[in-house]
Amino acid sequence: MNITVNLGINSYDIVLDGGTLERIGKECNLNRKVLIVTDSGVPAEYAAMVGRQCKEPYFEVVESGEASKSLENFAKLHRALLNNGFNRKDCIVAVGGGVVGDLCGFVASTYMRGIDFYNVPTTVLSQVDSSIGGKTAIDFEGVKNVVGTFYQPKKVIIDFDVLDSLEPRQVVNGLSEAIKMAFTFDKALFEEIENMNTFPEIFSIIAKSILIKKDVVEKDEKESGLRKVLNFGHTLGHGIEAQKEGELLHGECVALGMTAMCEGQVRERLLKVLKKFSLPTSCDFDYEKALEFITHDKKANGSTISAIVVNEIGTFEIVDMTREELGRRLKTILEG
Ligand code: GLY
Repeated sequence: MNITVNLGINSYDIVLDGGTLERIGKECNLNRKVLIVTDSGVPAEYAAMVGRQCKEPYFEVVESGEASKSLENFAKLHRALLNNGFNRKDCIVAVGGGVVGDLCGFVASTYMRGIDFYNVPTTVLSQVDSSIGGKTAIDFEGVKNVVGTFYQPKKVIIDFDVLDSLEPRQVVNGLSEAIKMAFTFDKALFEEIENMNTFPEIFSIIAKSILIKKDVVEKDEKESGLRKVLNFGHTLGHGIEAQKEGELLHGECVALGMTAMCEGQVRERLLKVLKKFSLPTSCDFDYEKALEFITHDKKANGSTISAIVVNEIGTFEIVDMTREELGRRLKTILEG
């Protein structure tokens, strides 16, 4: 299945199927110098498989984990490109999760003012979310994603077969972002997730989540409005994630953040789905520290912060919240 993201001259295809890694050479132009970047947590065989299909492959490995979205790795990859004589017609292939994708996209967008970039996301989280839409970034001075660009990939290659090697916790970590998209945009998809029983059903959920994201990105590529809805659950989630790095995964923190942005029956249905997949619905954390982090977040706008609220499944509202309102909602995560 191919999904086209229509963005004028920056349009590109997302190729989704089993076994796409084995035929990446047919999908992408690898008949040139190719810098293949992966992380130490990704089976090395995936990058090797890409390499076998390239005319002139070069390999770089970064450590797995958020700390790799660094200025040091940005320099390391630029050095690899420069030292190996890459020119503007050559390209980068990222093989890994969101960390490798965000880092490589940023390097590709800046080397010689921009070279081709192919993304091969190997986690559910990166397949449903971060690989689509052209957000690239590194972290700087302890602030996540603060240095980056909007730079669309030439193609995104999603191979469902690679998901077999993921731990169940990693799978549901990504499912959390799919739940987010369904909860805010697509009631039918939310019901599909509510009723999901077997692992292969996740392929359909990934595909439908990508269709939602594609639609949002086409309408608001640079996040001036609608795309902000994709931050549902992230405002409070980031405050918890900042404290729980290494303990909780990103999707788990988003799950917690989502629980505080809905009420009543709607919240009950969300909690039921999160519990079904063993995603957390409450958590112990330093409330004051988290609130401080949240209200200093980059999305802060004067005395209020825009947050997404769901009052009816499949719809959303953008609400400007005061520190007090955010604090009240944050407390509900402590209480569960
Ligand atoms: N992960 C949210 C976005 O791509 O806008």
